[in-house]
Amino acid sequence: MNCLTTVPGLAEVTPERLAALVSGAAAVTATADLSELLTATAEIARESTGAKYAALGVLGEHGTLIEFVHVGIARELAEAIGPLPTGRGVLGTLIHEAKTIRLDRLQDHPDSTGFPPHHPPMSTFLGVPVRSGDALFGNLYLTEKEGGFTQDDEHLVEALAAIAGSAVSNLRLQQKLRRLAVVEDRERIARDLHDAIIQDIFSVGLVLQGLASRMDNERDRHDIEEAVTRLDSAISELRRFIFDLKPPVWHDRDLGTEITRLTQQLAEPYGVRAVFDISTDLGQIPSDVIDVASQIVREATSNALRHSGSPTVEIGAESRAGFLILTIADRGRGFDPAAVKTGLGLSSLRSRAEKAGGDTTVQSRPGRGTTVRVLLPV
Ligand SMILES: Nc1ncnc2c1ncn2[C@@H]1O[C@H](COP(=O)(O)OP(=O)(O)OP(=O)(O)O)[C@@H](O)[C@H]1O
Ligand SMILES: [Mg+2]
Repeated sequence: MNCLTTVPGLAEVTPERLAALVSGAAAVTATADLSELLTATAEIARESTGAKYAALGVLGEHGTLIEFVHVGIARELAEAIGPLPTGRGVLGTLIHEAKTIRLDRLQDHPDSTGFPPHHPPMSTFLGVPVRSGDALFGNLYLTEKEGGFTQDDEHLVEALAAIAGSAVSNLRLQQKLRRLAVVEDRERIARDLHDAIIQDIFSVGLVLQGLASRMDNERDRHDIEEAVTRLDSAISELRRFIFDLKPPVWHDRDLGTEITRLTQQLAEPYGVRAVFDISTDLGQIPSDVIDVASQIVREATSNALRHSGSPTVEIGAESRAGFLILTIADRGRGFDPAAVKTGLGLSSLRSRAEKAGGDTTVQSRPGRGTTVRVLLPV
């Protein structure tokens, strides 16, 4: 392992001690939980040196210890001692100098501040910095080895600290990657819900609307229209749910892509050619405007496909003066907007645009084709 070779003088350590260290270190690197990793490191350091106590302090932003895991002191005693060390005295010196400190009598060190009541006596001391990447992560402390800590102990613990430091870096990287995976997962679910499920419900609604308009029985027509209303509210609910689910990184929806895909799908079964004139610089269009725009394009396109008999349908989108301008035009039979009994389609298209603060015009003359034009404020 790379980090072992960077510790000078490790060769003096006996093979047995090295073997114990390596197998312990393997356990450390396999740990998926930071505080478990810290405790395991302290435990291995204690076992491989024969110290009575071991601890690992984690450094916060302001140069004090924000976490302190220890082994060798029973919980009741630790509770009696009170607050955990924050990094004063010799621990503070170790933090500032970031160099190994080995002492036979802790009390003799000029920075020594003594212990709180109930604290067991600690005299021999070995403190080693733990680095994660370039930064000082914390320190590994050992105390109370009979006869004092040796040069070998120092090398051994430095090696362990190097392994623990790289295990911490690795763990932090893994946690970052996991968080990223969760965000991507949410994004994917939101997209699936939006693209597949909402569009499906929407098409069912369209079919039902068509059915209702062909119904002679007023009552049946009314029932079906009510079902359509229920589907609409289901869509709104889903949309709200998706909005909650949607991570803030969902910036990359693209109106052009969405309406192209949508209208191509619609036109295909009719054998009608969809022609696009979609500006490439539509700019960043808010997600809710994209939703309204695709519903409008969907309805107007499906009208052209079902009613006009035109071999083509032209779909345009451009951005001008804070407005998104959508046009859906066919060259089919046309109709008289004033005379025709409008179904749910055109009226819901108008009311959707209106709700979004927009405006709709339908230009059509019998025999001359139809152009639906909608302005939506962005
Ligand atoms: N592009 C078009 N070409 C020719 N006629 C059209 C066109 N768009 C609409 N119409 C006429 O206007 C009528 C009303 O359209 P509207 O979308 O409101 O209802 P619908 O399409 O008949 O039913 P629904 O949309 O509720 O399924 C249509 O029935 C059709 O006669
Ligand atoms: Mg319609």
